[in-house]
Amino acid sequence: MIKVSPSILASDFSRLGEEAVSCAAAGADMLHIDVMDGHFVPNITLGAPIVKSLRKCSDIIFDVHLMISAPYKYIPDFISAGADIITFHIESDSDTEKTVDLIKSLGKKAGIALKPATPAEAVFPYLGKLDMVLVMTVEPGFGGQSFMEEQTLKIAKVRKECERLGLSTDIQVDGGITDTTAPLVKEAGANVLVAGSFVFKGDKKTAVESLKRPH
Ligand code: DX5
Ligand code: ZN
Repeated sequence: MIKVSPSILASDFSRLGEEAVSCAAAGADMLHIDVMDGHFVPNITLGAPIVKSLRKCSDIIFDVHLMISAPYKYIPDFISAGADIITFHIESDSDTEKTVDLIKSLGKKAGIALKPATPAEAVFPYLGKLDMVLVMTVEPGFGGQSFMEEQTLKIAKVRKECERLGLSTDIQVDGGITDTTAPLVKEAGANVLVAGSFVFKGDKKTAVESLKRPH
């Protein structure tokens, strides 16, 4: 089953609540919330207070993607604000294992994200503890960039290792996902598709359905 997580980075921030409601109505499985600190990536987006306000508007699963240098420090804030899944970068300054353990000890799902230059093998030691692996298919920081096709090899490597270990870990992809690139990532083994521009530029329901179509 393919799950779709529209990225609110591409939404109208003056109408965030309505955008969340319309994503749920369009059949989205979760809502992807991109948090950037202007340090880990060269862009600043939003923080826990906005997640908290948005939580009042919809019950949809909040899939929070932390592109910040110190995820460990801010995880309790995002969890109290209503995050359901927290994904942080293995390239961040926080200790990877401690950060995963913190998220799990607070009762939420944990994901590790890999930037395009980080090899698949970097996440292998943590697979047993993880709910999700996020393979970035663009350099994190901005929406609307072009899909990096060579990342499909990394998706396939992570999927193969999960299968070898008997794990049904979610593999998420993020960056440049459209109805043209989706078949490539699904074929490689991804099952959770993040899409910003593609979902928000037109009819959300049509876009979500096209991403979910079995390839
Ligand atoms: C990029 C973000 C993505 C972004 C995706 O750093 O993590 O979630 O919003 O946007 P599109 O789908 O437009 O590439
Ligand atoms: Zn993201």
